[in-house]
Amino acid sequence: MKSIKKFLQMKKQQEPIVMVTAYDYPSGRYAEAAEIDLILTGDSLGMVILGYTDTLQVTLEDMIHHTRAARRGATDTFLIADMPHMSYHISIENTKINASRLIKEGRANAVKLEGGKSSRLEAIKAIVDCEIPVCAHLGLTPQSINTMGGYRIQGKEEAEYQAILQQALAIEDAGAFMLVLEGIPERLGKEITEKLCIPTIGIGAGRYTDGQVLVYHDLLGMCEFKPKFVKQYANIKDEIISSISKWKAEVKDGTFPAQENIYIPLEK
Ligand code: KIV
Repeated sequence: MKSIKKFLQMKKQQEPIVMVTAYDYPSGRYAEAAEIDLILTGDSLGMVILGYTDTLQVTLEDMIHHTRAARRGATDTFLIADMPHMSYHISIENTKINASRLIKEGRANAVKLEGGKSSRLEAIKAIVDCEIPVCAHLGLTPQSINTMGGYRIQGKEEAEYQAILQQALAIEDAGAFMLVLEGIPERLGKEITEKLCIPTIGIGAGRYTDGQVLVYHDLLGMCEFKPKFVKQYANIKDEIISSISKWKAEVKDGTFPAQENIYIPLEK
């Protein structure tokens, strides 16, 4: 399993860090078989697994359940679990308890939380103080869609650009070991990456971050909607639908089960 020290070394040596999301036993297993550098059990599971319209309905129990399953599939890969909305907002004590549950019950190696304002920096410090590594997340932070007014690129205007840059610097000072940058101009992703010592992982943040992350279902073509920053490497959704349809047709026309699928077939 790669360590935080290794990720820092990869940044220094300019070796791209590759992260993919995984939410259950098979996706964890396949990500590990592909020798991915690290796995994120993201709260995007609310949309791609549970069918919600956003990540806001995801609970800590959902996150623990799916993190445990992904971990069973990926026993030897560094795994980060997302802290869901309102699991790090109420109090420092509650934040520490919730982060520790993702480690103790979910068996994650680290947790991720969104945002960089002062209360978030306090949360990061408190969790790190419990010896739990924290990955931060800036830019388009999906748990803030209602305050951001939807899924909008962040940091296009100068004031917003500078605010995100300052938050990134403060996040490093607070003790985060990694920073996910989502939905920002390439120039901002590049500047943050150059100014920070900790690795940055981009999703819709251009070419200059230290690594890239994609949602499992997006990269495999299992989603309805393809954002601009996604490249699909397969079309699994169509494969699934056509395979189920073929099987259905064979049951209907009597081709399935064939001789080889039958225990002790009757003589015809
Ligand atoms: O929840 C998630 O999958 C994420 C990634 C998109 C970075 O936060």
